[in-house]
Amino acid sequence: MAKQWRGVLHEYADRLDVSAATPIISLGEGGTPLIPAPALSARTGAKVFIKYEGMNPTGSFKDRGMTMAISKAVEHGAQAVICASTGNTSASAAAYAAHAGITAAVLVPEGKISMGKLSQAVAHNGQLLQVQGNFDDCLDIARDLAANYPVHLVNSVNNDRIEGQKTAAYEVVEVLEDAPDFHILPVGNAGNYTAYSRGYTEELARGATTKMPRMFGFQASGSAPIVLGHVVKSPETLASAIRIGNPASWELALAAREQTNGYFGAIDDETILAAQRILSAEVGIFVEPASAISVAGLLERAEAGEIPKGAVVVLTVTGHGLKDPQWALRRADGSEVTPTSVPVDVPTIADVLGLVAGGLK
Ligand code: F0G
Repeated sequence: MAKQWRGVLHEYADRLDVSAATPIISLGEGGTPLIPAPALSARTGAKVFIKYEGMNPTGSFKDRGMTMAISKAVEHGAQAVICASTGNTSASAAAYAAHAGITAAVLVPEGKISMGKLSQAVAHNGQLLQVQGNFDDCLDIARDLAANYPVHLVNSVNNDRIEGQKTAAYEVVEVLEDAPDFHILPVGNAGNYTAYSRGYTEELARGATTKMPRMFGFQASGSAPIVLGHVVKSPETLASAIRIGNPASWELALAAREQTNGYFGAIDDETILAAQRILSAEVGIFVEPASAISVAGLLERAEAGEIPKGAVVVLTVTGHGLKDPQWALRRADGSEVTPTSVPVDVPTIADVLGLVAGGLK
């Protein structure tokens, strides 16, 4: 087992609040690849890398924070955890709770989470309730229950989540041997924006980097409270993971923007889907719509002349495309993709593929 990645709590035990008394609940999260994206570099003139968080055990970055939150919950004797979620947190909480042998209750907005994520929470035996409200309502209820009943809150308002998630910044620095010039990521509750900022701040303080990256965060136009500067009562976007109108880490994110000379922008849904297609078709990485906003944000900022040529840019893509695959089967004009049906006949299939017998391969 010497060469196997051991999960973030083991790998970074010296830099996290874990001790011999902490039962480490891990599914081997973290250690995700930082992948060069030549097609995006060609489009922008920057040196673009993708931090592919869909490679985590439950298919999203949430696992980094959940290993920490569940381990600490068990250390403190918790028998049950609770979270509100747009889908990924619930999938992760249910999986880590199952591994720990405790109960996870998850509150999701009714009809607003993808089938892939819903099925994960169910598969891992989470007590899943669909609340007749939006994510912000779910979070209010989860906080209330955790304050008044014996159940431990594992949303990112729990600092253990942010602590676990900051390890992604450590990994980026390890590969690049410095911080990037820019780090771009999606923003919902702004927990991950806060976590990366914290990770990079620590790396700078210990001399592992020479600078802070400028942190650029993107929200969907219909759910862009931080960009607008006010709560959005009825947030809307097809990027369901970031359909959030009142981010839990709003204040921390504003502080991080200040500290990193950062930026928050908004991207409309069609532009998000266009970016998802570019990443799938030109780079070979399939992500859910919320994650594709990082790519859209990069292209928009490059177009605006805000990304100098040769700058090193890291995009976090937060969740796997298989979580919410329906959007890939929809063309830019809105029509559905239906695969062409063919008979069991080589010449016909060759013809449909445009192959000419004896021609060049
Ligand atoms: N990308 C994905 C795929 C997400 O699931 C989330 C958040 C974000 C980005 C935004 O991260 O909230 O730290 O700013 N999903 C949460 C959930 C809300 O319940 O799964 P954030």
